[in-house]
Amino acid sequence: MSTPLETRHLRGLGRPVSAIGAGCWTIGGPATNQGVPIGWDRADSGRALAGLLHAHELGVTLYDTADVYGLGHSERLLGRLLSRVPRHEVVISSKVGYFASAAHPYAAEQMGRQLERALANLGTDYLDLYFFHSTDFGEGDQYLPGAVKQMRAFVEHGLVRAVGMRAPHTFALEWATGPSHDRRAHEAARFLRLYEEIRPDVLIVRYNLLSPLYGPDETDVFDFADSQGVGVIIKQALGQGVLLGTHHPDRIRAFGHGDHRRQDPMFTPKALREVYDGLASVRERYGATVPDLARVALRYALARDPEAPVLVGFRDAEQINTTITSLGEPLTADEITGLHQSLAPLRDAFAARMAKRHAP
Ligand SMILES: NC(=O)c1ccc[n+]([C@@H]2O[C@H](COP(=O)([O-])OP(=O)(O)OC[C@H]3O[C@@H](n4cnc5c(N)ncnc54)[C@H](OP(=O)(O)O)[C@@H]3O)[C@@H](O)[C@H]2O)c1
Repeated sequence: MSTPLETRHLRGLGRPVSAIGAGCWTIGGPATNQGVPIGWDRADSGRALAGLLHAHELGVTLYDTADVYGLGHSERLLGRLLSRVPRHEVVISSKVGYFASAAHPYAAEQMGRQLERALANLGTDYLDLYFFHSTDFGEGDQYLPGAVKQMRAFVEHGLVRAVGMRAPHTFALEWATGPSHDRRAHEAARFLRLYEEIRPDVLIVRYNLLSPLYGPDETDVFDFADSQGVGVIIKQALGQGVLLGTHHPDRIRAFGHGDHRRQDPMFTPKALREVYDGLASVRERYGATVPDLARVALRYALARDPEAPVLVGFRDAEQINTTITSLGEPLTADEITGLHQSLAPLRDAFAARMAKRHAP
């Protein structure tokens, strides 16, 4: 690559990381957890490792995985990268909270076992970042205090350097004081309650061209995190491939066993048609190839917060190469405003679809 990959100073971690991080969910391959598909089909370990090595060559220093990505397979692949590169050069993030077992995933001893397994899989003696992956802390949040205490013990023992938690896909601080029967109010209040208990260093949030925009009187996750001195990592900037135009509504792909997209409302024929048609103005203005659309999607996400790195999923060296080398110049403020305006109908339709999904 002619220009080195940009870096960002991730608040909460206190060190620079590449502006684009390698999201290692896809490379974990197909998987099910308690009968629910949670992985990605068509993954190949050799090609995935080549992708990781190429990401490192391109300057990627942030790698995000989880115990449930391929039920350990993603961590083990990342371990093969770590066996070849100096540990201190890379930032490794993993997650706990979903892995089905006899105990609750957040039972303290279960968390201990999962961290031990993650470190063994990765071949390292510490994680730079460890996320509370799920927000299910059992009936009445009975496992929450113990899980927080256990996480703090990991940090005190030098096994974990910083703690992360996920933020809701839609959030404004002001919503939390709304009526308790309101779903938005309930979710915002719950996030704040968990946030106060966990006191994370870093939040992870989905943010892409379809994400809602907020009014001048609303404090979104990015502004909230900024006010708290907490870092933000952006995930799913490519809309899991949908924003790259690779899921054409006339050529619907059948997803294999163990691929979460079998059950994802984003991948129904109707939703794919909606997104494809809604992105017509983007294709007209920026071009319709994967690099054209990757540039818009990534530059849009990178523009939201100058300190937030963006994770991209990939399955091989070709995908990560295309994605990273397509970055090009940042979008101008006018271009961002233009995208806000031209994508308003699509954003609204997407928000309505997601609201319906959560309706009782
Ligand atoms: N709760 C959490 O904390 C959480 C949740 C979700 C994700 N994450 C993290 O965020 C990362 C990114 O999210 P994501 O992987 O779900 O979605 P993403 O980055 O938006 O999309 C990744 C998918 O897009 C397709 N793609 C990527 N580059 C491509 C290219 N150059 N050409 C064609 N297709 C391409 C691939 O799927 P196909 O080849 O199958 O089309 C790939 O698996 C994850 O890997 C994970 O590390 C965290």
